[in-house]
Formats: sequence, C-alpha cells, structure tokens
Amino acid sequence: MRILVTGGAGYVGSHAVRALLRQGHEVWVYDNLSRGHRRAVPEELLIFGDISDTRHLAAVMRDRQIEAVMHFAAYALVGESVADPALYYVNNLAAGISLLEAMRQSDVSKIVFSSTTATYGIPETVPIPEQAPQRPINPYGFTKYCFERMLDDYARAYGWAAAALRYFNAAGAAADGSLGEDHDPETHLIPLALQVALGRRDELVIFGDDYPTQDGTCVRDYVHVEDLAEAHLAALERLQPRQVWKLNLGIGVGYSVRQVIEACRHVTGHPIPTRIGPRRPGDPPVLVADSRLAREMLGWTPRYQKIEDIVATAWAFHRRFPRGYEDR
Ligand code: UFG
Repeated sequence: MRILVTGGAGYVGSHAVRALLRQGHEVWVYDNLSRGHRRAVPEELLIFGDISDTRHLAAVMRDRQIEAVMHFAAYALVGESVADPALYYVNNLAAGISLLEAMRQSDVSKIVFSSTTATYGIPETVPIPEQAPQRPINPYGFTKYCFERMLDDYARAYGWAAAALRYFNAAGAAADGSLGEDHDPETHLIPLALQVALGRRDELVIFGDDYPTQDGTCVRDYVHVEDLAEAHLAALERLQPRQVWKLNLGIGVGYSVRQVIEACRHVTGHPIPTRIGPRRPGDPPVLVADSRLAREMLGWTPRYQKIEDIVATAWAFHRRFPRGYEDR
C-alpha cells in the first residue's frame, strides 16, 4: 500500500515507518519537525509540512496516490496540555480535523490513529478493558478522545475504515540503538533514568511513594515501541471499510517506578541515585491494559514482555546517541 505517515519523524511514528518499509509498503512521511527528528527518517521520504495546511496535505495525498494514513502527528505531554491547552486544541484537534478534511478531499478512507490510555482518565477497573468509560482528565486525553469520536462519525457517514490504538506507556528503542526516544524537554521515566546513568543528570525524582501499590510508587504497563509499530501494521492490513476498531496496546503487566529504576540499574551497571518528591498531579496509581482484544483482532503478540529487555534497547539508543539525535 501507499501510506502517508503524519508525525513519522517522531518517536512511535519513526518506528512505524521502519516496520512499514520492512513489509514492502511505499511510505511517505509528513512532518513539520517541530518535535520530530530529521535523522529519524530516511531523507528521501520526508515531506516537510504541517497537517493544518489542508490544501498542501490534500495535494500530497493526490500526487502520491496515498491509500491510507497513519496519524501520529500530535503533542503528547499531559502536564503541558494542562498548562497550555490551546497548544493541544489547535495542534491535536484543529489540525487533526484538517487532516481528515484533506483525506476526504483526496478520497483516502483508511486511517490508523495513535490514541492513548489518557482517554480513560482515572480507571475504575484495572486491567482496563476497551469498554471502560472514557473520562479524560486533561486536555491531551480529551483531544485524543474527540478524535476517536470523529472517526466513528466519519466511518459511519463516509464508509471509512479506522483504528484507534490506545497505547499504554510506549518504551524502548530499535535493538541496535539506531532509533529511539528523544524528547526536549524529556519527561518520561526510562529516558530520564538512563540520562542519570549516563551522568547527564545527578538524580531521578520519584513522584510520590505513598500510592496504594506494592512499593508505594505508580505502576504502568510499558510496551515496546517496535511492538506498537507491529500492531499498527496489522491494523492497517486487516481493517475493512466501515470498521472502527478501538484497541488497547499494552503487555498486560504492570511495573512500579521503583522496579523500572531497578531494571535501569541492572541493565546499565550504573548507580541511579533517586530522591522522593511530591506526587505529580494527574498520575493515576495503576494503569495496566487488558489487551486481549488487540491480540485477537490483530493477531498481535508483543515480543518484549520483560522490563529489562525493553530497557536494554533504550540503553542501546542512549549509548549510541548520548545527547539525542542532535539534529536541531
Ligand atoms: N515518573 C517519576 N519521575 C520522573 C518521571 C516519571 O517518578 O521523573 C513516574 C510518573 O509519575 C509515572 C511513571 O513514572 O508514575 C511513568 O511516567 P512517564 O512520564 O514516563 O509516563 P506517563 O505514565 O505519565 O505517560 C504515559 C504517556 C502519555 C500518556 C499517559 C497516560 O507517555 O502520553 O501515559 O496517563 F498520556
């Protein structure tokens, strides 16, 4: 298939591009490089542009005879979305609508969309099934939730095929360290812990140790970024017109913040000094996926099940790019 990947220079998007190419698809990356990295995509595939530019986007889709879209282009920081919601409504929602409009104008009717656990808010049951109520508690989660709802309407009215894949905690990197996670500012647990291991930071602050969990720290479901990419590929290949799939992507096992840090110490062989800080607002104590539906619908089995194995790939990237891609 001929696929347009929006945000294909970002963390999850760049791994999806690689998986699509490996499978023999023709791929174009549409990215404004505001948060993505030029070095994370093959140069000849990159089309520089903003998804808010409906006309350009529609022309690209027509010229390249695009058959499906994988949509990753979005901001994805919970805290930032609370501090500056306009960024999220403009970039994730308004620009997202522009993307859907460009698809309509150029008769592209298949989309795989990068959604999130943050659409659930604070879950009543864990592991979280897809039919759990979606009550996002921050603008980031709300914009992703709205986009999911738009996909329902577009599929019904225009016969589109759509998959919204709700990631839990995307983690890890390509095993050879050639692609990985490079955010500025970095806010995620594993890259921060590895930056401490590299000596780029003095310590890691644990956001609260008084949660009702086995060791008092938050529990998350860390899913390897290449496993996420494989799930996107399977969704793209299996989706049929008028189908809308909403699927959780996690491994179904939770690790506490302390367990993740311990894995980072073990993998790197470096001490990682920590300090207990206050809770971070908006952090639910436990988020673990019930991902049986994705396994069934996509025939998906995550290859990475152990946190040490996931961290080892992230460490390979951090050693190869200790200061990130350095392409800004
Ligand atoms: N944490 C720390 N110290 C840090 C950074 C993180 O203790 O310096 C803790 C957090 O409190 C949390 C866990 O480590 O308990 C994981 O935090 P991350 O920031 O790595 O990931 P989140 O679980 O906050 O975020 C993920 C996705 C978001 C998504 C969110 C849904 O990255 O896109 O889950 O809740 F919105």
